[in-house]
Amino acid sequence: MNIKNICCIGAGYVGGPTMSVIAKFCPDIQVNVVDINHKRISQWNEKNLSDLPIYEPGLREIIEKCRGKNLHFSTDLKKNIEKADMIFISVNTPTKIRGIGSGQAIDLKYVEASSREISKYARGHTIVVEKSTLPVKTAQTIKAILDAATEDVNKSKITKTFSVLSNPEFLAEGTAISDLENPDRVLIGGEDKEAINELVNIYSKWIDKVKVLTTDLWSSELSKLISNAFLAQRISSINTISALCEATGARIKDVSLAVGMDRRIGKYFLNSGPGFGGSCFKKDISNLVYISNHYGLFEVANYWQKVLDINSWQQKRFVELIVKKMFGTISSKKIAILGFAFKANTNDTRESPAINICKKLIEEGAFLKIYDPKVKEHQIIKELGLNENNKEHRDWEYSNSIHKTFKDVDAALFLTEWCEFASLNWRDISKIMRKPSWVFDTRSIVDMDLVKENGINIWQVGYGN
Ligand code: UDX
Ligand code: ADP
Repeated sequence: MNIKNICCIGAGYVGGPTMSVIAKFCPDIQVNVVDINHKRISQWNEKNLSDLPIYEPGLREIIEKCRGKNLHFSTDLKKNIEKADMIFISVNTPTKIRGIGSGQAIDLKYVEASSREISKYARGHTIVVEKSTLPVKTAQTIKAILDAATEDVNKSKITKTFSVLSNPEFLAEGTAISDLENPDRVLIGGEDKEAINELVNIYSKWIDKVKVLTTDLWSSELSKLISNAFLAQRISSINTISALCEATGARIKDVSLAVGMDRRIGKYFLNSGPGFGGSCFKKDISNLVYISNHYGLFEVANYWQKVLDINSWQQKRFVELIVKKMFGTISSKKIAILGFAFKANTNDTRESPAINICKKLIEEGAFLKIYDPKVKEHQIIKELGLNENNKEHRDWEYSNSIHKTFKDVDAALFLTEWCEFASLNWRDISKIMRKPSWVFDTRSIVDMDLVKENGINIWQVGYGN
């Protein structure tokens, strides 16, 4: 089998960038990304590349080069599934919000729907690759649906066979393109050796084969879950230490540096902040807790639950600290919110710490001026659950200009580590903020001395002040 035609179901943060990179390095393969969301597909097809649905450094250049040549975005699932030799499933896998496992287990309805579409339209032999972050043993569900289709058609003598592979995505948003182009490893799980080889051949077009690991389906799925759990655990660990540093006067950055220089520990993922956000960490750990409880491993479940608890606690303690520092009340005070995305270099706001923190500040009576260089107003409205039509009575406003965000505010709260926040003109800002002015820096992004020199009070995460 020689893969000539790939279809990817789901044109989101995973499907879009991943397929773009495959198209870039495999000019002989036609890559078709399909989605049921018409708006999203028309955004991917936008002439103006600033209007792509996803912001990722380096993505725009690939789209410019490959779109219309070997990279296509479409809502026609039937046509593109029919002609595909290999189909990636990159649909969303949210946490269940009702029923058994609500709040913890993953809702597989989108994966199931895509599998059914594949079983209906696929022709000949098709390799199905699960790409979404999925709970352990999802491949089994996909296989069961596809096998049922195979049995049906075999009766009617149409050839339709499937091999299912797990190929978890390790890209991080904001660095998706470089992560895809130069990954630490690629993991492929499956039983069908030939299918595995086909996928290995695709990745070997730009990745050294020694970085491509192969295993069974379940080990592959579990590895993805555990990688995310370990990363999140590091963040919760360093966040507990940020509180200890604040209480005792140690400096968190110096502690992270000293600890991280031990090769056995490593320097990455030791930045304390407002807690982890994003679509994966909370969902994956909740799922790990759910699975552990399911198997009666209650100590294991409790251990991982603590990683989530610390994440919420960090956000709660920041709000309490802001209220305390601002004379015990923020009612009717104006606070500038700098950054709403869950991390820098992305427009994604899913599970962003900014959501909970802003909601709590509004509950305390503050008026917020929210600025983020990549997040649009309608997205913030959606995340904060506020009524778009009720603009006049809102407790917050959207700011288009970073400088104007500081005008007449009592405090500025930094929540995302956007690069532009590191080089602000504090002399000018100090003139337009209300006095006494406060800066709360949850990302250690601003120059503390410079802020102080300009007569502004500053609190920074992990510093005793
Ligand atoms: C994560 C995994 O890194 C990636 O491998 C997986 O495929 C998807 O989930 P992502 O959520 O996109 O990627 O971003 P990541 O860089 O992991 O950051 C997650 C959250 O942790 C962000 O809110 C970030 O600000 C926070 N973080 C990260 C910290 O607070 N401190 C750190 O040191 C690193
Ligand atoms: P991720 O971060 O995992 O990529 P996103 O929510 O950004 O998640 O993207 C998932 C995409 O999958 C969405 O654009 C959604 O419309 C699409 N999707 C969900 N179910 C289906 C389906 N059955 N067929 C096609 N596309 C789907």
